[in-house]
Parts: sequence; C-alpha cells; structure tokens
Amino acid sequence: MTRTNPLRDPKDRRLPRIAGPSALVIFGVTGDLSRRKLMPAVYDLANRGLLPPGFSLVGFGRRPWSDEDFAATFRKAAKKHSRTEFRDEVWDRLAEGIRFVQGEFDDDDAFDRLSQTLVSLDETRGTGGNTAFYLSVPPDAFPTVCEQLKRSGLADQRDGWRRVVIEKPFGHDLESAKKLNAVVNDVFPEQSVFRIDHYLGKETVQNILALRFANQLFEPTWNSHYVDSVQITMAEDIGLGGRAGYYDGIGAARDVIQNHLLQLMALIAMEEPTSFHPAELQAEKIKVLSAASPVEPLDETSARGQYGPGWQGSEKVVGLLQEEGFSHTSTTETYAAITVEIASRRWAGVPFYLRTGKRLGRRVTEIALMFKRAPHLPFDDTMTEELGQNALVIRVQPDEGVTLRFGSKVPGSSMEVRDVNMDFSYGEAFTVSSPEAYERLILDVLLGEPSLFPVNAEVELSWKILDPVLEMWAAGGKPEEYESGTWGPDSADAVLARTGRTWRRP
Ligand code: BG6
Repeated sequence: MTRTNPLRDPKDRRLPRIAGPSALVIFGVTGDLSRRKLMPAVYDLANRGLLPPGFSLVGFGRRPWSDEDFAATFRKAAKKHSRTEFRDEVWDRLAEGIRFVQGEFDDDDAFDRLSQTLVSLDETRGTGGNTAFYLSVPPDAFPTVCEQLKRSGLADQRDGWRRVVIEKPFGHDLESAKKLNAVVNDVFPEQSVFRIDHYLGKETVQNILALRFANQLFEPTWNSHYVDSVQITMAEDIGLGGRAGYYDGIGAARDVIQNHLLQLMALIAMEEPTSFHPAELQAEKIKVLSAASPVEPLDETSARGQYGPGWQGSEKVVGLLQEEGFSHTSTTETYAAITVEIASRRWAGVPFYLRTGKRLGRRVTEIALMFKRAPHLPFDDTMTEELGQNALVIRVQPDEGVTLRFGSKVPGSSMEVRDVNMDFSYGEAFTVSSPEAYERLILDVLLGEPSLFPVNAEVELSWKILDPVLEMWAAGGKPEEYESGTWGPDSADAVLARTGRTWRRP
C-alpha cells in the first residue's frame, strides 16, 4: 500500500510521491467540472513533476474533436484555472500524451477505439497498461459506461491496474445507491473504485485529524460533557443559473449534505483510529455513520428553503424559479438544514446541526464546536451580558484556519467579560499554498491510495441518515422561500430555537 500524506503514516517522510506509469481517461471531458477542475489539476500535477514521463490523458466525448482540438481546450482550461504558473515546456511534454476518442457511451466501436488508443499509448509512451477511468458523467450514464468497459475488456486487470473514479451523486437514495454500487462492483472490485468527495481533498479538512489527534489540548473536551452542539455550515453566495440540468430535482441535501457535510461530521465525531491505514480510518468513519440518525420529529428538526429574488452584495439577483432551465413550479430546495444525533457514549445528547444553501450572505464553510456554558459564573449578570458560548471553529474556507472563542475581561476598572477570538490562519502560518482538492485526489487515484475516498458502506449509511428527511419532504409541501443574500428561511432558525439555540453568524 502506498502513502503520500504524512497523516496517513507518520513514519513515511518520502514526500511527495510520483505516480507510476499510467494513463487517465476522462468521460464527460467537455463538461464544466472537467474544464474548471480536472484538466487544471492534471496540468498542476505535471508542473509539480508528480506525473510519470509517459503520462497520457485521453478524453472521451461526443464532439467531433481531433486530438489537437482536445489539446487546445485542455491548454485553455489549464491556463485559465490552474493553480501553478503556466509553463510552455511543461505543457509541450504533457501535450504529447493527449488523445481524444469520439463516441457515444453506448457505441461499441468507440470503446474498441478507446481500447486500441490505450494499447498504442502503452507501446509508444510506456503507460504499463495502467489506466484510471474518470466518470465525470451523470449517474444514469454510469451503468452504460461500466458495461462498455467490461465488454471491451478495458476493466480487465491482467495487463496493468484498472481503476474507476466516480463523481457524486452516488444515487438519489439508499435503494438507488445500492443498485448503482452493484453495477459498479460487478465490473470493478471495491478496491479499484474511487468515489470522489472533493471535500476530503481539502487541506483544512485533513487538518481536522491533525487538530484532534496530534494535540493533547482538545481531545479531553471533545465529548458530550463539554460540547453543547456542533454546527456544520456550508454556505455559498452563488446561484444556480446554468446548473438546472444537474441540480433541479436533486436539491441541496442530496448535493452536499449526503456527502460533504456528513463526511465532515464523521471526521469530527469519530474515535481515534489505531493508525492512518485507509481501512482503519474508514472503519472509524463507518462506526460514526452507523450510529447516526436524524433527530425526531423530523418536521421540527429540519428545514428546507428555496431562494427568491434579492441582492447579492450590490447585484440584484433573480430567484431560483426565474433561473434559466428551472421549471416555474420547481420544488427543488436550495437550502437544507438537518439535525443529527449520534448514539454513542461520546456524543449522546449532542445535536449536530448541518446546514447548506445557495445565495446566502457569503461563501463560507466552517465547523463550530459550541461548548457548554461554565456551570457557575462568579460575576453579576451585567458583567457577562456579552459573554456567549466558548467555541472552537474550524474554518474550512475561504479564510482557512481555526478560531477559538472565549471570554476575556474588557480593559477598564470594572469586571466586564466579553467574547474574544484567538485565530490561527493558514495564510499567515505557512507560506506554501495548498494543492487543490482535485490535484491531490487525482494523484491519489494514480498512486492507488484510497484514504480520501469514501467506500460503498459510507455512501449507503449516509443515504440511510438522509432518506427519512427526504421522504418527509417528498410527501408534500414546498420549500420556504428566502430572500437571496440572507441566511436562509425562518424555519431554519426555528430548528435551533426549539431548544433555545441559535445559528452562528459566520
Ligand atoms: C459541489 C456541489 O460538490 O461542491 C456544488 O455539487 C457546490 O453545488 C460545490 O457549489 C462547492 O465546492 P467548493 O469546493 O467550492 O466548496
């Protein structure tokens, strides 16, 4: 088993590792994700010298493109979106291994041509027959592509490793996820399946493990004796213009709670793994997800909303129903909040509040551990009027870091106590910039390093947590409208207010 991240094996200091001979095939290469994230990430890896000399990238798509057309698109995407500087000499080397295969997903000939292209790349560039297939396609295309890979012999691992990378959504509920997993596992064994949850590729998300398990300071209070509640927020200011095809009918809960936010919850709530071996890490996350369920009564502990018109900064924006491609009667939620409880000695009685939304006040993802109040305050009420709860806030983005909030005496002759913040900021503490999530994850696929990829069981358990809420929402009613640029629907405030709590204003 290979390792690239010291968190996964503290004894391994040989960083960073370079991928061995291999090729990457991207299905859905003309899509937005491919242009904005995948191609730039491949370029960044090449620029950092982490790809093998004969690395080859094959695009598969419907457009009548030549290799040169595809290379030109790739070059433009890399120049526009890559993290590292664009260098012609890096590009020229990378471009030698770029190919395009034109075809539909159900076209046998196209897959046979893909197979021949890979054989010839192995002969001319020495890819060793090792190939990762990246399915950046809608989930309803997964079965066809997987079956074609099987039929054409491309999934056959005899002449080199074969891996499949799949993008969410992995189904739309537990039942469909099971079916999808069965289809994928029929072609690729579980250890060859890499499910992308790009949040796990973020530096700050991996830092949760360092914060928790490399320090003595936090762990003693990391439990229901000290923690009152946990708030996990993923707020975005962008709207959904141009994304109707993917988002309408999916909604905020399926789009990010089922994956990103439940993964963050698992990392916050899990026990210390015996080692950072992938199987141990996954086992701890699975334990948390198995013990988690939505808090009843679901209609009071969850909320959903849909953005209406409003202002995003100084820009006047339309509501979801006026966005291009969305039906005027769409009931797709753009905001979702749920409450999860974890039946374990460590977390019994501590609600985990998970919320996400589009067109909110600003873009911010954070995890806040809200601590219980001190059992006794030897001050007058007036002295502590501005004292809130202690909080440890992991700022995932955009201002990456950690904030500790606690009470401090206000300077002056009276004993007045007020909240202050102590901040750690990545930008100030470290001078190197972090790799993009996709950069790290694509490299991990080529290295065969599975730690940062959720396994089948995690996906299914996450649906099990979310399904009851989704079923309740599907049974009737519409999401509550909220004004763009605000912090979501009133019903979301009510979710916390019922137990005397309030959402943090990030
Ligand atoms: C994706 C969701 O997984 O994450 C998008 O499908 C969302 O709806 C995106 O905008 C946010 O990613 P990030 O890395 O910008 O927080």
